[in-house]
Amino acid sequence: MKKHYFNIMSLLLSLLISFGAYAQTNRLIVNADQGSVKINKHIYGHFAEHLGRNIYGGIWVGPDSSVPNEAGYRKDVMQALINLEIPNLRWPGGCFADEYHWMDGIGDPKERPKMVNTHWGGVTEDNSFGTHEFLNYCKKIGTEPYITANVGSGTIEEMSKWIEYINFDGVSPMAELRRKNGQEEPWNVQYWGVGNENWGCGGNMTAEYYANEYRRYATYCRNYGKNRLYKIAGGANSVDYNWTEVLMKNIPLHMMDGLSVHYYTVTGNWQNKTSATQFDKEMYLTTLRKADFIDELIQKHATIMDQYDPQKKVGMIVDEWGTWYDVEPGTNPGFLYQQNTMRDAHVAAISLNIFNKHADRVQMANLAQTVNVLQAVILTNENDMILTPTYHVFDLYKPHKEATLLSHQLVSEQVSYGKEKMDALHVSSSKSDDGTVNISIANIHPDKKISLDIDVRGMDAKSATAQIVTGPAIDAYNTFEKKDVVKKSEFKDFKLNKGKLTINLPANSVVMVRVK
Ligand code: AHR
Repeated sequence: MKKHYFNIMSLLLSLLISFGAYAQTNRLIVNADQGSVKINKHIYGHFAEHLGRNIYGGIWVGPDSSVPNEAGYRKDVMQALINLEIPNLRWPGGCFADEYHWMDGIGDPKERPKMVNTHWGGVTEDNSFGTHEFLNYCKKIGTEPYITANVGSGTIEEMSKWIEYINFDGVSPMAELRRKNGQEEPWNVQYWGVGNENWGCGGNMTAEYYANEYRRYATYCRNYGKNRLYKIAGGANSVDYNWTEVLMKNIPLHMMDGLSVHYYTVTGNWQNKTSATQFDKEMYLTTLRKADFIDELIQKHATIMDQYDPQKKVGMIVDEWGTWYDVEPGTNPGFLYQQNTMRDAHVAAISLNIFNKHADRVQMANLAQTVNVLQAVILTNENDMILTPTYHVFDLYKPHKEATLLSHQLVSEQVSYGKEKMDALHVSSSKSDDGTVNISIANIHPDKKISLDIDVRGMDAKSATAQIVTGPAIDAYNTFEKKDVVKKSEFKDFKLNKGKLTINLPANSVVMVRVK
């Protein structure tokens, strides 16, 4: 009887162990021969508002500054953005856009009227960075401009003249004015936002009212020459699905190319946000879970869009996303200056993986914001500059741009602290035009190295290379004293054997593996 009991117990135990081991086996299958949707490079877009030290001090220091500059643009930031190959840059806001009057920002800088930036710190805006400075910057860094026009406090005439000023090649009052201000050729700007957050800082409108306003504004947004405008309607605040429904119902599809949505990852709540650098592991998972929620958010907005636009002609434009914490102690609360840790690197990795996943609908996304504001890719301090962990993830993810999205199946173990529980691994896969398969993997586990078996089906994998972004801890970040605490480097801890790849993902890392 005793022996019998012992046998049953050991059988149960070995079943439990093998089940446990099975559940712990992290596996990924990538279908290299099953893709049809291209990942729009504009998913990797950025956003520079007249806010804090983003434009002034970050991008623009003026030609007389002691900070090394080229015609007023700081050289170090410009080079870093060139290296990042950013596909587009959204400007001038944000909330600032709906109180910006573009004519104040052209002509002799000394003559330009000043204004108060009431949204952001109540500082005086001297309009020294205006249309010419922005568009010439985009040219220099090789990016496409995305301009958001003023609907909240502006007029249709103002917007339509701005388009004429920028895009018209013939003889007209606005084209002549542009030439008088030193720009002969039109810039042919394609991406135009019709207002920003018009449910809030952009005019506190109802969805129905804004939909009508949109139709009026869009009517007078003219195409000049061969340039075709891509008109983006101001979209929903996070989970306001009704906003999307009303706009999709009331705006004819031929009048709208894109519909935006904004989603910020706020770890506490809007009244009580939390520190960018001080957090425990449970709070870390809270942040990442909230970032991961954008998957459900996109899915739900997309389902509504599908009802009115089954052919997916209207792009979903996530033109503001990223983390929003308390400002760094001692800094102006209206300037939204925050540090950026490995936690932010994971937010970026998870979010970009999700945007890729929805590449059939998501045509653009813009990280908020470029320099010194919110989840910035670059921080500056007078003459000095650092690249943040988020910068390195964008750099790592370059191969996904314009690649074909691949389907995959992932089995991931979980990571759990306190009340939070999530998959430890987060993946996206794509195929470049030359046949290289790109697999981005975030191992968000703070302490555990994870071995992942990858089966790249549908190709004869012969070689692989990898790069990694990591740092010593989840709250590690770069400072002006130690600039490379978190960095990108070559990664070699993987084996490719008969087409099967086994990769040992360090704890707290984001890896891009490229298989040929
Ligand atoms: O990115 C900061 C602000 O967040 C933007 O100005 C506004 O559109 C949003 O509420």
